[in-house]
Amino acid sequence: MNALAGKRIVLGVTGGIAAYKAIEVSRRLVDAGAHVVPIMTDAAQQFIGSTTLSALASEPVQTELWDNATTPIPHTKFGQTADLIVVAPATAKLLAAYRMGYSHDLLTNTLIATRAPVIVCPAMHTEMWEHPSVVDNIDTLRARGVHVVEPESGRLAGGDSGAGRLASPASILAAAERVLGPNDLAGATVVVSAGGTREPIDAVRVVANRSSGKQGYAVAEEAAARGATVTLISTVALPTPHGVTVVPVETAAEMQAAIEERSASSDVIVMAAAVADFRPSSAASGKIKKQDGVPEIVLEPTPDILAGLGANKPAGQVLVGFAAETNDLVANARSKLIRKNLDLIVANDVGADRVGFAHDTNAVTLLRPDAKPVEIDLAAKRDVARAVINTIVEIRASTQTGKD
Ligand code: PMT
Repeated sequence: MNALAGKRIVLGVTGGIAAYKAIEVSRRLVDAGAHVVPIMTDAAQQFIGSTTLSALASEPVQTELWDNATTPIPHTKFGQTADLIVVAPATAKLLAAYRMGYSHDLLTNTLIATRAPVIVCPAMHTEMWEHPSVVDNIDTLRARGVHVVEPESGRLAGGDSGAGRLASPASILAAAERVLGPNDLAGATVVVSAGGTREPIDAVRVVANRSSGKQGYAVAEEAAARGATVTLISTVALPTPHGVTVVPVETAAEMQAAIEERSASSDVIVMAAAVADFRPSSAASGKIKKQDGVPEIVLEPTPDILAGLGANKPAGQVLVGFAAETNDLVANARSKLIRKNLDLIVANDVGADRVGFAHDTNAVTLLRPDAKPVEIDLAAKRDVARAVINTIVEIRASTQTGKD
């Protein structure tokens, strides 16, 4: 179950042009199973109507501190019953009032009255974001334990561009998952590989496979949501998961170099990438011309990155492989598990419907050297990733217990 399911989240919306994105944030939180209680300031209502937000949240929008139709004590109730408060967007005015404890409206009263964690997502023009008063307010709120989802750089209202743009709804959701999640990978360094490698034939042609990178990205997202420091070695350019560092590569050799330079300092390595087993033994520097006739391509084996990692696995490191099979799934995967000295292998029958390459779903069997196979039925790749990370956390705990 994801970290937001069943959680009561107050979504505070203040008066900035990015208020329209709060509707998308609300939808994603509800989709993740949260109960969303929206509170809009007067200024927010200058930018968006409450009707849409009321429809997409779990309750109608709250705006009134006085004569509130829902409760006689709105100034404390919403804060006391929240598991988390997210303010998106958070204007300079809101940050100043919150920092000073100036509870002048329903949202600031709720912020002052809560014991729940608070996430603020600032959004304003660059000049305002860089103003010393705003910098000081943010520093003070951070020092008090308030979580800040930094604004991004990009197009701002009025045709300007620069720092101050509200973080993406996906980043805000990831921050909420991280705050409410078990945080059971906090302090861990995790490297994940994703996507299919591309092995050059000539300057424009490659030998490739159908891996989209979705499963690897989902594993990286989930590891970051659990508090890990995550590096994603990727051959594809999917949206970068919040809090994850992406290292772009293309070939098996580049992937091998990028992973091996990080392996000694990694607590967990997850090889979800579809690494080519063969590559052209030589790649033409230019483009091979059709009129030169049909070329003969001689292939050679690529280095087995995972086997190399297994042969040099540092004590305490959790090494996870994936197995793309089309028959004898468990036997073939178990053979790789043992041969490559893995702690876990995630086997998927890539010939099955909606399983494996490019799909949004996957079905896997988790194999460990000393445990019975665990089947994860067809599910979204993020749910599969959660099952993989749960198992990694179990392995780390058992390794730790073994050490103690
Ligand atoms: O990316 P998606 O579209 O979401 O699809 C997901 C996936 C099907 C790619 C993924 O779930 C998956 O199965 N990844 C592994 C694909 C693969 O290369 O499996 P394999 O059985 O051929 O390789 C076994 C393991 O050895 C893998 O962890 C692989 O990364 C690794 N390997 C393989 C060859 C090689 N030269 N070096 C390696 O490290």
